[in-house]
Amino acid sequence: MRLTPTRAVLALLTAAALTAPALIAAAPVAAADPTPVAVVTSEFEDGTAQDWTARGAAVVAPSDAVAHGGTGSLAVTARAATWQGPMLDVLGRFTLGTQYTISAWVRLADGAAADSARLSVERRSAGVAAYDQVVGNTAVTAGGWVNLTGRYTLATEVDFLSVYVETANTTGSFFLDDVSISYVPAQPIQTDIPSVRDVVTEFPVGAAITAAETVGVHGQLLAKHFASVTPGNALKWDATEPSENTFRYTEADPLIAYAKAHGMAVRGHTLVWHNQTPAWVFTDEAGAPMTATAANKELLLARLTNHIRNVAAHYGTDIAVWDVVNEVIDESQADGLRRSQWYAITGLDYIRTAFTVAREVAPHAKLFINDYNTNVPAKRDALFNLVSKLRAEGVPIDGVGHQMHVNVDWPTVAETEAMLQKFVPLGLEQQITEMDVSIYRNNSETFPAPPADRLLQQAYVYRDMFALFREYAGEITSVTLWGLADDNTWLDTFPVTRKDAPLLFDTTLQAKQAYWGVVDPSRISPSSSPSASASASASPAPGGGCAVSYRVTGSWPGGFQGDVTLTNLGRAALTGWSLSWSYADGQRITQAWNGTAAQTGAAVTVTNASWNGTVAPGGTVSFGFLASWTGANRAPTAFALNGVSCT
Ligand code: XIL
Repeated sequence: MRLTPTRAVLALLTAAALTAPALIAAAPVAAADPTPVAVVTSEFEDGTAQDWTARGAAVVAPSDAVAHGGTGSLAVTARAATWQGPMLDVLGRFTLGTQYTISAWVRLADGAAADSARLSVERRSAGVAAYDQVVGNTAVTAGGWVNLTGRYTLATEVDFLSVYVETANTTGSFFLDDVSISYVPAQPIQTDIPSVRDVVTEFPVGAAITAAETVGVHGQLLAKHFASVTPGNALKWDATEPSENTFRYTEADPLIAYAKAHGMAVRGHTLVWHNQTPAWVFTDEAGAPMTATAANKELLLARLTNHIRNVAAHYGTDIAVWDVVNEVIDESQADGLRRSQWYAITGLDYIRTAFTVAREVAPHAKLFINDYNTNVPAKRDALFNLVSKLRAEGVPIDGVGHQMHVNVDWPTVAETEAMLQKFVPLGLEQQITEMDVSIYRNNSETFPAPPADRLLQQAYVYRDMFALFREYAGEITSVTLWGLADDNTWLDTFPVTRKDAPLLFDTTLQAKQAYWGVVDPSRISPSSSPSASASASASPAPGGGCAVSYRVTGSWPGGFQGDVTLTNLGRAALTGWSLSWSYADGQRITQAWNGTAAQTGAAVTVTNASWNGTVAPGGTVSFGFLASWTGANRAPTAFALNGVSCT
């Protein structure tokens, strides 16, 4: 779905010199995660089924044939369908807005054919049932126990609620053991920090959400900081038209109602995509997968038209921006177009039809073409060519959406600026639609917890990217982050499964350094970051060795001027640098040139200007500054380059 950038390029930094940093305490650091509270523990050691019952005709009974821990488990037999199995009534045990971690162990009975098991929640409100998958299909066998663990937040009032396990394909017997359901008590959100929406006023700043982000403390955080929302999945085809001409708005409606009630804009995402589109859409009238025939093209475009007419009309003016088509570019193709089923059967006509019908049904709405990696020149240019061509034909495209799924090292600000610049001549709107900043540089890294140096680097990326977006406020009409807080991010399972931390708020909803990068970069706190070598970084830190010459070139009562020369002693070129030190005598930097200075307490960090981030091995770079002093003015004794001490 997405290219994973491997280029190790540090974010370049904007050039504005800092004047008179305010005296403010260090950015708050979130307290350590409190201990989880158990709400369900089913170990099946007491010879009972511990309140577990059967769905459908299945039979559940305590067993000592096999056990994951101890000597007992729950045997599940006599299943007449794959959905039949064990369930636990948790009505009254789950509270609205609390995120529960559900863990269960499953093992197939001897002789049962290998299959996959999944864990879900069934909830009912006034007789209407909904099924929320907590853990997707996971291979299980008779040869050993397999763990299913996932997280679940109840977001609506219910009158029936159960946790259950089912299988994907077969109805063999299985065992269940050591089920635990727990939650970590929520921390209150910080109410004494600025709201992102009050600080960034050039355009609405939004977040992608699920129902869980609209309730409890999550809802409070969302309402405090964000001016726009994008349903992350609820408006995709599989959610809105799961079977032909049966439209379902139960997932999206509450989100749009929430946005309306809180005066937030809504980005409609998305009408046409190659993912999350049910198979029936591409199945011909005889029930076979469509091939590229004229009849199939007609049928597919008719389905597309019907879909957009229904979905866009259902929301009317409540949705003022639609991602009409998503990810249609493939820059590796000679014509730059993704070989999706849409393309195979209709050529470019699905895009033409989608925009034309959307304009007709939602004439008020801004219509966007959205894609990822638009900072990659080949991709950006292919998108530009397509948009130019279609607009010349009269296809009503109002804007280009840049997803901006980026990471702490990639892309540079310059590359991002080139991405924005490219589309300026077209005179259309641009939006940042799905921004997140992964702490990982490649697919092989995994950290048990986000290292402080990565979080710091991330803060600089948010700082610099938001500074750029705000500079381009004439072009950019909204910036959306792909998630509210690090407790719920799609990057936990994409492109590989590992805990990521790409957003402004941490897993306990507290403001990260990244938040300060957006809201007040002078409060980014380099001193709270241990050196990269102390972190779990899997690749060598970018510092790699440095020498620093620090000189006071002029001094007068209360003030002095300084000059710093940094030498890159590493074997690789620096592609962005950040030099930090600490003052012992209360000196404060008031202005810098050839670099950007930030100071929190005694800790100073100067980052490169946009033009001097690259320093060859053995090369030097210099910057200067003005500072205040009283009493004494001792030179700093230690420096760190990109978080690594200079020796
Ligand atoms: C992601 C959602 O966040 C996930 O929950 C889902 O499983 C997969 O899709 N580009 C897009 C978004 O345009 O729709 C994707 O959202 C992330 C990548």
